[in-house]
Amino acid sequence: MDQAITGFRLDEVDDWVAVLVCGHGQHVRHDPPLSNRPWVGTPQGRQAKIGWTLNCVRCDRGEPPTEKPMESIEKITTERLSAERFRPEHYDLLCQIHRNPFVMATLGGVRSDETTRQNLQDYIAHWETNGFGLWLLRDRASGALAGRAGLKGIEIGGNWEIELGYTFLQPYWGRGLATEIAAASLEVGFERLGLEQLVCFTLTTNMASKRVMEKVGFLFEREVVHMGAATLLYRLSRDEYRGSRV
Ligand SMILES: CC(C)(COP(=O)(O)OP(=O)(O)OC[C@H]1O[C@@H](n2cnc3c(N)ncnc32)[C@H](O)[C@@H]1OP(=O)(O)O)[C@@H](O)C(=O)NCCC(=O)NCCS
Repeated sequence: MDQAITGFRLDEVDDWVAVLVCGHGQHVRHDPPLSNRPWVGTPQGRQAKIGWTLNCVRCDRGEPPTEKPMESIEKITTERLSAERFRPEHYDLLCQIHRNPFVMATLGGVRSDETTRQNLQDYIAHWETNGFGLWLLRDRASGALAGRAGLKGIEIGGNWEIELGYTFLQPYWGRGLATEIAAASLEVGFERLGLEQLVCFTLTTNMASKRVMEKVGFLFEREVVHMGAATLLYRLSRDEYRGSRV
């Protein structure tokens, strides 16, 4: 019976499993000439296959579901936040974050609306190119704007890395929300996207952000000057992430 793909996850030996709408999983290996699925090796390749159908023999055999329903990484929820892929209609909300001098003090200062427009275009393009990116964050209870967070590629210290970032409006500080979305982002990055490494960095003076990184398991690597500012670079590998969760 044909069933739609709702997402992908890595199994314990790092092979990809397509999670189907029926609640069954099916391995989707790229193993030529037996199976030719080069798309499975990239986040954007897998993302493009969501909604496609696979023939599910477990349905034909009447087996019970074994997989947890999988939400799209374009829209995820945590206990207190909902996170949605950045879209053009988020411009005004992103401006609210970027115009706020308190929020932006540790992020290079307030940004002009024109810079925000360019940032938003970059966020949208990042999703299209990579199959993941930054989310706009809302308070789940009220639907109000809470901040932005997620994973994006960045050149830092001369290397291309995938960075975890998080930023909240002030009413949401000090409630564990950065830790909550950081933990959810790691799950997406390592288990849904299959990334090997993630980095996170912050100004040497940003103690709250440093604490968030450490709480979710990042390990200090080195100091790096980024855009003229002294920053602390932290790193976490998928193996370390999995090891810390055992
Ligand atoms: C940094 C930021 C994301 C933290 O968000 P948050 O939701 O308040 O973070 P959490 O509540 O999950 O965790 C903050 C931790 O830092 C600690 N902390 C806060 N200020 C601190 C300080 N001055 N010194 C030491 N620890 C501090 C908190 O006590 C908490 O740790 P705990 O749970 O062990 O008590 C938020 O302040 C923010 O958006 N700042 C502006 C943008 C920014 O700096 N983004 C990060 C860029 S790298």
